[in-house]
Amino acid sequence: MFSKDGTAQGVAKQRLIESLAPADTRVIYDPYAENFVLGARLIKLMGHKLSVALTNKFAPGFHQHLIARTRYIDELVEKTAAQGVEQYVILGAGYDTRAHRLTLPSSLTVWEVDQPEVQTIKRAKLAKAQAPSATSAQIHYVSIDFNHQCLSEQLLAAGFDTRKSTLFTLEGVSQYITKETFASTLQEIAALTQNTTATFIFSYVDALLRTDPERCFGKGYPKAKRRAEMVMGLAAKVGEPWISLYTEEALVELLAEHGFSVQENKTLDDLNAVYFSPVGRTLAENQIFKLEHFVAATSKKA
Ligand SMILES: C[S@@+](CC[C@H](N)C(=O)[O-])C[C@H]1O[C@@H](n2cnc3c(N)ncnc32)[C@H](O)[C@@H]1O
Repeated sequence: MFSKDGTAQGVAKQRLIESLAPADTRVIYDPYAENFVLGARLIKLMGHKLSVALTNKFAPGFHQHLIARTRYIDELVEKTAAQGVEQYVILGAGYDTRAHRLTLPSSLTVWEVDQPEVQTIKRAKLAKAQAPSATSAQIHYVSIDFNHQCLSEQLLAAGFDTRKSTLFTLEGVSQYITKETFASTLQEIAALTQNTTATFIFSYVDALLRTDPERCFGKGYPKAKRRAEMVMGLAAKVGEPWISLYTEEALVELLAEHGFSVQENKTLDDLNAVYFSPVGRTLAENQIFKLEHFVAATSKKA
């Protein structure tokens, strides 16, 4: 019943909503998000405030959580690129438009990796919107089903250079793929970059969401357990259930097995004061939603 881009659209929708905020209060700006969202016209008519209020009726802080995730990764991508990383691979890119909207060095080579159905829609929409690439080169689109295809084979066939330093991002994807697939993807990233430096930025859903959901929310958050079930239920309903949740310890161990060490691990709780307070939008403790963690890891050579 649902096309494969259900969750990619869901994230693009929140980016569209955030982009409707006045320039001096918005936390991210994605001028292309509207192209991917069913009902974008209605959302634009409702505007930022009402759209955020409606989203947060479903789960307070849900909008801010997704926007903090995007902003956090945006900043790290721009920083890593400015420091001279040569290649950037966006894993499970969906309707992420970093390759078009961020300030990136013109020499950076970008690969976007996702399911072919999602990429076809994305490419058609971006062509229609005449979205220029943020770098001087064409973006390489590599199609994959992480669960059944080999990342390195697909990337190497598309011209990935194993000698060049590389940044990988995996935003909002780890919950949709099996733990075995996540581990093998990490193994492939390590193998692809064994002769160079690598940075891996990703998000993961806290295992506490199932075992002790109250701890994934700020103090006094209304009906935390019920909301946790609703959020997971919604993903399942659009045909993309959350099958893999992680503890921090398990991830640190897994990353270490493949030569990566965690540099940062953040949640909305950490980023509220950094992104929302400066624009007068501080979330109260009882609106904090920290089901996902945002992690930056580097390989030992980096
Ligand atoms: C929630 S969306 C996030 C998209 C994007 N990273 C963002 O933050 O806007 C999840 C993405 O993972 C992709 N995905 C999920 N399972 C996948 C699989 N087995 N193989 C390839 N891509 C997959 C989906 O197509 C979708 O684009």
